[in-house]
Amino acid sequence: MINVFGSLVGREELEEIRTSLEAQWMGIGPKTAAFEKQFAQRLGLRDFALLDSGSNSLYLAMKLLDLPPGSGVVLPSFTWIACAHAVVLAGCRPIFCDVDLETQNVTPETVERAMTPDTRAVMVVHYGGLPVPVEAFERFRVPIVEDAAHAVDSKHNGRYCGSMGDVGIYSFDAIKNLAMGEGGGLTAKDPARVTRARQLRYCGIGKSGFEASANKDRWWEYNISDFFPKMLPSDIAASIGLAQLRKLDAMQAVRKKYWEIYQKELAPVSWLSRPVDAPAGDTHSYFTYCIRVAGGKRYALAKHLYQKGVYTTLRYHPLHMNPIYKSTAKLPVTERLNEEALSIPLHPGLSEADIAKVIAEIKAFRA
Ligand SMILES: Cc1ncc(COP(=O)(O)O)c(C=O)c1O
Repeated sequence: MINVFGSLVGREELEEIRTSLEAQWMGIGPKTAAFEKQFAQRLGLRDFALLDSGSNSLYLAMKLLDLPPGSGVVLPSFTWIACAHAVVLAGCRPIFCDVDLETQNVTPETVERAMTPDTRAVMVVHYGGLPVPVEAFERFRVPIVEDAAHAVDSKHNGRYCGSMGDVGIYSFDAIKNLAMGEGGGLTAKDPARVTRARQLRYCGIGKSGFEASANKDRWWEYNISDFFPKMLPSDIAASIGLAQLRKLDAMQAVRKKYWEIYQKELAPVSWLSRPVDAPAGDTHSYFTYCIRVAGGKRYALAKHLYQKGVYTTLRYHPLHMNPIYKSTAKLPVTERLNEEALSIPLHPGLSEADIAKVIAEIKAFRA
């Protein structure tokens, strides 16, 4: 089966893990610190805290905003569950908004339509790695949480995604552009927020055992600053991340090459719509290649591809349609995407022959 998402790991990752294991150090430690520094340098971030997942990073991001209980937070419905869970877990109320059909991203207009008098924050998601012009949302005068889970290598106006909002989060799970099995992290405009994230991430203790041993007489005692779950990264994950950072440019070049092959080869296929690339000057991370198939043919196409050994999927099942959120929102574009959108295989673990097979099977499809 040609998988829709994936990563490319090998000798370099094994070598980084080996040195951690030989040092008998698996938990948070020097590799975590090295990853945090190198990641921040690459993206031009003032500071960056590594965490155990992007989902937990979203919750921590919401916590850092310190919003009054019950505050409304506008976010797209066409996103990952943890975006809305983070809002709820922080004691706030998710207000789902629509996205643009072509970009699958929120726009100031879709956010404005959803805004309520009690809206205290907006969450922006760079869907599939296509950058959202974050500055356009500053006019709402509320804090912006930027979800750059798909956009680790995306740029807008020369700035990396995740660095433009008040708090930005990343994901490094097993299928992301930079993968470490499970992992995520957070940056913020105000560096005090990243310092606080580091205090919170180990059950609110303030310091990990690794950090606490320096210059303190009674280093075994805790100074608990808050009630918070454990979200610590491990040096094993950070080791994989360090190797992936060194390979990121090469892996991104492969994603871009495959994206461009799809764009060229699928252009003559009149019954599908291709995704849009980033505008001139901006950079797409090419996390997904999401096509649209109208006329009720999407399901048949997905099934045809599956039978031919090509796995596809839809990211995401709209959140507002999930009863758990008790939403009454009507979001026509999101609901249309739910019927028409389909992500086809794109990741650096694929070969050009795999991409050619996907294209051939799409072209062979007859509804
Ligand atoms: C838009 C978005 N945000 C956040 C996350 C959460 O990342 P993680 O899988 O690291 O928890 C994901 C995961 O796919 C995502 O797609």
